[in-house]
Amino acid sequence: MTGQQQTEHLEREAGHLAPGASDEAAAGRRVFAEGHGPVLTDLDGNQYLDFAAGTLTQSLGHGHPEVVEALTAQARRLWNVHDSATPGRAALLELLARLLPERLDTYALLSTGAEAVEAALRVVQATAEPGRNRIGALRGGFHGKTMGARMLVHWDVGHQAFAGNSVLGYSAYCYRCPLELSHPSCGLRCASLVRRHIAAKPNVSALVFEPVLGAAGIVVPPAGYWEQIAEACRANGVLLVADEVLTGGGRTGTFLASERFGIEPDLVTLSKGLASGFPFAVLAGRADLLHHPAASVPGAYSATYGGNPLGIAAARATLEVVERDRLVERVRVLGDRLHERLAALPARFENLGDVRGLGLLYGLEFVTDRQSRAPAPHIARAVYTTALDLGLRVALGGHILRLAPPFTLDEPLLDEGVTLLERALEQVLS
Ligand SMILES: Cc1ncc(COP(=O)(O)O)c(C=O)c1O
Repeated sequence: MTGQQQTEHLEREAGHLAPGASDEAAAGRRVFAEGHGPVLTDLDGNQYLDFAAGTLTQSLGHGHPEVVEALTAQARRLWNVHDSATPGRAALLELLARLLPERLDTYALLSTGAEAVEAALRVVQATAEPGRNRIGALRGGFHGKTMGARMLVHWDVGHQAFAGNSVLGYSAYCYRCPLELSHPSCGLRCASLVRRHIAAKPNVSALVFEPVLGAAGIVVPPAGYWEQIAEACRANGVLLVADEVLTGGGRTGTFLASERFGIEPDLVTLSKGLASGFPFAVLAGRADLLHHPAASVPGAYSATYGGNPLGIAAARATLEVVERDRLVERVRVLGDRLHERLAALPARFENLGDVRGLGLLYGLEFVTDRQSRAPAPHIARAVYTTALDLGLRVALGGHILRLAPPFTLDEPLLDEGVTLLERALEQVLS
């Protein structure tokens, strides 16, 4: 329950705050005051295990001492000199080069996910052959709230394409197959339709995609889906632009989710996992694309906050810990354990229609019943608020709960989080 101090605070701000809060903020009604490691504390002193890791940003948990130290030291020295070089920048670029696949060796430094997507779209626009004036995207993909990104997103607001030059392909959303087929007897028809579409449309310049759909509910494609599509893009001169704003940084058990699926993207956007919640984003790409004369005109990759020294300090400290403590390997170990516990849940709860994920990234889809599979947002919301009351924070979006705990958890805390989730499910669904 939201305590007294929090209620007063929420009432105070309600007179002025713009509406349109996320499902989780609206349903949770908490005022979080502090975060340390995996634990958040609210204004009334209640504590929560944070299995949403901020906004899937806190790979190292909240307030990691090395990130706090780096940010504090940088705050005493220098905050903003536009995109001029600062002492930490070279080290961060070298670190990115070590963590990312070799072909992605050139980086533009930005501050939000949508900003990185926009920068990627500009590179595509600048380098596309004449006539290739359309962009491919996948149904259910989410790429941000700026207008270029909105052009690729057709499902969360407005439900229609706002700009006319994007073309949509099928995602491998097996639980709700848009083609009403079943895997594996479908023979990956969704992928072959995307492949045929790409081959038939010589005007497509790039496919912008999430390797695993994030906001749409952690939709993990089956083996073979990406091979077919990536191969079709290669064969037809279509650039592969992986939006790894959510999946990048190790969350899926490889630094990029693309690596796990054998995709070799030409451009990659990264943000959430990079800087422990400090606004920071990177567009990583092939040198020949980012250096292309039409793409690299003066100021092409600069922005007011892009690559600011504080963001660089936070990213460098975060990624140094990820590298030094071999946290991507740790994600795989913890992920196996999480998978084992979560996979047992649908058998116990009729309204839990599907559980899927990889690494430390899982989606739980709630339905009114197994036959109709009708989405049940009221159940997801009830489980979410009950879990909060029990001391577990997860992420809520419509009828789906997402789990994305920090990489720095130990096994007992991982188990404790799942046990709290089970208790919430029992309270709501038994
Ligand atoms: C895959 C993906 N791309 C882009 C974005 C937009 O990032 P931002 O909110 O930092 O603009 C998000 C945000 O959740 C995302 O999940």
